[in-house]
Amino acid sequence: EKGGYEHFMLKEIHEQPKAIRDTYRGRLLRNEAIIKMAGVEDNMKKFLNANRFIIVACGTSWHAGLVAEYIFEDLARIPVEVEYASEFRYRNPVINENDVVIAISQSGETADTLAAIKLAKSKGAFVFGVCNVVGSSIARETNAGAYTHAGPEIGVASTKAFTTQITVLTLMALRLARAKGTISSSDFRKYLLELEMIPNKIEKSLESDAHIKIISDIYKDSNNCLYLGRGFNFPVALEGALKLKEISYIHAEGYPAAEMKHGPIALIDENMPIIVIATKKGHYEKVVSNIQEIKSRKGKIIGIVTEGDQQVKTLADHVIEVPETLEFLTPLLTTIPLQLLSYHMAVLLDKNVDQPRNLAKSVTVE
Ligand code: M6R
Repeated sequence: EKGGYEHFMLKEIHEQPKAIRDTYRGRLLRNEAIIKMAGVEDNMKKFLNANRFIIVACGTSWHAGLVAEYIFEDLARIPVEVEYASEFRYRNPVINENDVVIAISQSGETADTLAAIKLAKSKGAFVFGVCNVVGSSIARETNAGAYTHAGPEIGVASTKAFTTQITVLTLMALRLARAKGTISSSDFRKYLLELEMIPNKIEKSLESDAHIKIISDIYKDSNNCLYLGRGFNFPVALEGALKLKEISYIHAEGYPAAEMKHGPIALIDENMPIIVIATKKGHYEKVVSNIQEIKSRKGKIIGIVTEGDQQVKTLADHVIEVPETLEFLTPLLTTIPLQLLSYHMAVLLDKNVDQPRNLAKSVTVE
């Protein structure tokens, strides 16, 4: 059942190229230069007339929502707010029939997300679901939706659900951007092509596995880790830190790289590993100067860089390469080494990666 892999988590990490292909199959039609998503098509007016989108989710799904915020705003110029479902439902939110709420959930059973949906519906908002489990409570409670086609995710630490959620939300953003005319048809074609190439590039990223295992062995006894990223990759830093906490029980924090100087930089010494997402494009020079600040305080730097990068390589203690892609698609690649890093650290520490202590696969209580 684990398909020859030692753990479900590792199997599911390796399934991501297939999961993403399954998710865009029949939707991304490159030759015709269109994106077909019934749930979006049927409700196009609601999407285009919305004052704003409010994304509600928990945990990793909330991180996918944050990535989507950057993508929707950048490509489709739609204002987006991203909320923890648990906060949204209890704070008397200002919401009405002109709002579109997008609920993201792998299991479709998360109690807080379900309650947030019910609240939004009671205020007249249109609610769209992005779920993995077909026929789940959230899939049934939403007005419309689009499934991720990740297949069953067994490991408690979410991996392929995250990247397929980003895939669905990217398809939606591209479809809406085209409908609104916020991107040109030639850019649209280019973006479809690049998105279609992501699974192959993930396969390439997975080849770093042995190298990542070596790095994991060096840092597995750390008490703390910091994850830094900017722009589209800031939520990836949060996700990397969550993954490490969940399965290795090492304390980790994700930050936007520029926030370092507003506090967390005080934590840095020679015992602190700092994972910095520093892909080309997207504030690259700024991230390089953040890396210099860390280096002068003796922090240990693991850079996630674009293939062929030279600048970060000279500064960092280790680099892990990912193939080049469009800036807004980089989260689909930079996530992969962070999943592998947490996986290997947890295995080397002899932790139960698939079923970490105190956690359940779906959180059906408040
Ligand atoms: O099933 P959901 O996507 O609604 O679950 C949300 C969170 O409970 C989930 O992502 C959790 O944070 C994972 N264990 C993260 O790996």
